[in-house]
Amino acid sequence: MGEKEIIEINKNGWNELVRSGKNYSNTSLPEYGPFMRNEEYFNIFKDVKNKKVLELGCAKGESLKYLQTKGASEVWGIDISEEQIKYAKNNVPTGKFFVSAMENNPGIPENYFDYCLSLYSIGFSSSLEKTLALVSSYLNKDGKFVFCWTHPFFNCLGIAEDKVVIRKSYNNEALANITKGEDKIPMVQYNFKISTIINAMIKSGLTIEKMIEDKPIQENYIGNYKSNFWDKRKIDSAPTTLIIIAKK
Ligand SMILES: C[S@@+](CC[C@H](N)C(=O)[O-])C[C@H]1O[C@@H](n2cnc3c(N)ncnc32)[C@H](O)[C@@H]1O
Repeated sequence: MGEKEIIEINKNGWNELVRSGKNYSNTSLPEYGPFMRNEEYFNIFKDVKNKKVLELGCAKGESLKYLQTKGASEVWGIDISEEQIKYAKNNVPTGKFFVSAMENNPGIPENYFDYCLSLYSIGFSSSLEKTLALVSSYLNKDGKFVFCWTHPFFNCLGIAEDKVVIRKSYNNEALANITKGEDKIPMVQYNFKISTIINAMIKSGLTIEKMIEDKPIQENYIGNYKSNFWDKRKIDSAPTTLIIIAKK
């Protein structure tokens, strides 16, 4: 499937999902992922006061709103879905928002941002490399990139006969068909190996500062993660979420 088709399917899918008004699993700050400890524990954005922040796949702007309450001076967001951006503009009236695929620059200044973040969104991009090259271009010389996505090992786990099993090969990085929400709306996403993500970051000029593979905590269940994919039995075997902090 080509890049244009991936963008088209995901744009339509996300628009339909948001229009439906039905629940779907979602991660915004202070959360980093299901069963994970959150920003109040990790303190990744501890110095965000007076900083300029850009979010890729910003959805309804919840994370940007959170960072604004922590003192961020400017918050900008890109999302492929115009339906998400309508909410974002309402949630964060002083934010600057673009309806755009993150693989393109819709007019965002370069060498400008102190922070760029992407929480559970980059796997939907049609090109990891193009997206990370843009991240690097948006950051100022001391800027940081905060990324999280489903942990690549957790993504391989399944449940069979009440046991945690490998349901998918870790080697398989092919584009995957998925569905989202109660209406099972079709979308596509990539699930990369850890080395693929790290090597793409290095290629784009980013330096990894820290990787977090924190042990999930049963009690830290987030209510909107209802799918069997986030089965509680899997969380003793792997972190649900991989977090990477990189700097330019
Ligand atoms: C799982 S949600 C991320 C949730 C978000 N962190 C939040 O605060 O709610 C993924 C988001 O990425 C957006 N998206 C998907 N593909 C995209 C692309 N190629 N470029 C920009 N945004 C994209 C979707 O519209 C959706 O809002």
